[in-house]
Amino acid sequence: MKKLLVFLFILLAAFITKAQVNVLQIDAVGGKTQINKNIYGQFAEHLGRCIYDGIWVGKDSPIPNVNGYRKDLLEALQALKVPVLRWPGGCFADTYHWKNGIGALNERPKIKNVFWGGTVEDNSFGTHEFLNLCELLGCDPYISANVGSGTVGEMVDWIEYMTSDDNVPMANLRKKNGREKPWNVKFIGIGNESWGCGGDMTPEFYADLMRQYSNYAKMYGGDKFDRIGCGSNGSDFNWTKVLMEKGRNNMDGLSLHYYTIAGEGWNNKSSATNFGEELYFNGLKKALYMDELVSRHSAIMDQYDKDKRVPLLVDEWGIWTDVEPGTNPGHLFQQNSMRDALIASSTLDILNRHCDRVKMANIAQIVNVLQSMILTKGNQMVLTPTYHVFKMYNVHQDAILLPSSLFTEKYKHGEDEIPAISSTTSVDKNGKIHVTISNVNPTKEIKLEINLSGKAITKINSATILTASAFNSVNTFEKPETIAPVAFKNAKKLGDSKLEVTIPGKSIVALELE
Ligand code: AHR
Repeated sequence: MKKLLVFLFILLAAFITKAQVNVLQIDAVGGKTQINKNIYGQFAEHLGRCIYDGIWVGKDSPIPNVNGYRKDLLEALQALKVPVLRWPGGCFADTYHWKNGIGALNERPKIKNVFWGGTVEDNSFGTHEFLNLCELLGCDPYISANVGSGTVGEMVDWIEYMTSDDNVPMANLRKKNGREKPWNVKFIGIGNESWGCGGDMTPEFYADLMRQYSNYAKMYGGDKFDRIGCGSNGSDFNWTKVLMEKGRNNMDGLSLHYYTIAGEGWNNKSSATNFGEELYFNGLKKALYMDELVSRHSAIMDQYDKDKRVPLLVDEWGIWTDVEPGTNPGHLFQQNSMRDALIASSTLDILNRHCDRVKMANIAQIVNVLQSMILTKGNQMVLTPTYHVFKMYNVHQDAILLPSSLFTEKYKHGEDEIPAISSTTSVDKNGKIHVTISNVNPTKEIKLEINLSGKAITKINSATILTASAFNSVNTFEKPETIAPVAFKNAKKLGDSKLEVTIPGKSIVALELE
């Protein structure tokens, strides 16, 4: 029976390719791989107004707070179901000396944030504040240890402080500072961007250092957490090769960083809001490069680790634009448009498809920095279009990816083109099927036929759409609801296992089927 279904699936696929219609063919019973919830992870760095103002306002702030954390932000993030949060950087991590951030607030030293605008860092948000935040959010902590300017001793002290319940100096210090039980730290990053801001190392040098740090991380932490090796800068495939060759047995994950730049490059990233179709198209096309990157890094990893013991973690990604005019260039504060929502949905589709190797991703960053979920100003807060995508997509967390074939027309711009439609389908533990679909063509409405094989569709439980009047529309403090999900009416059942969905240009649709 199964063989017959596969045969029919292939036959139908061949027929559709010929007919050149927009069809999503889903195998409802052939799913095998779980979409790790951590693909929906977040990243918070001591950078600009991410930690201070964004997350932490302090207990005495007039801004409504819960023990110093912004109340509005906490509620918004709890609704988002953040699975994992990476901290304290980023580049900041390799200058961070954790003992500055514990103990009485008024005794914590003030330092200069050398990477990000020279801002004064008063260390009022430290280890306790971060790990308690993770507990409030119900997410797993991912700590980036300082390899660039720290020591192995400093790292193991930190590990002992956070995770040990023994009668040892660092665990006793934690207790003295008010926390009896250890926290449940799940991931320790062995450095960040060690090829750049984290020490400017060669892959060979870093691989040796990673083995040394990892060795002691394991000695002090056992199997409590996974040790994440610093991975490549985008397409530096040699970095991955060397790390896998020399260090695959010393790490439990390898990272990858890739940022989308819609403009010409790092020196001309282009505006977050003031752009036309050329930069809209470029942004989306550059984001799709994630697929090639993940495929090629995974292929290298497969050569050394065919059983996929070492996952790939895309622990920094997102669109990086010019900062908002009038803001500190070192603070990376940017607006977030409908284009960015489509970049998020298309990237999440790619990462979901690679869920056999990709087990975590952390969009940069959670609030007020780069492609953030949330923007704040004083006591005001705005949920960005990217926030809404993460919320619409959180149904895929820990669900089983369903195999699918997508036949899509192209969105053409000048001589260039990209697929117009992108999607993910998964089945959750209650048997509900979730289909998320993006149409990146800015103007053209597209009719998509959805066929399920192996299961009938009894009903469409819910249908939601996120769209905007223009691709550069944004949510502002004055008009925070310009882009927000609303009920979607254009999904209709055509038969037992067939749907027709009419998706407007530049929009994202989420369906729940049963
Ligand atoms: O996310 C901003 C910065 O981008 C991080 O600090 C660094 O790791 C990367 O280059």
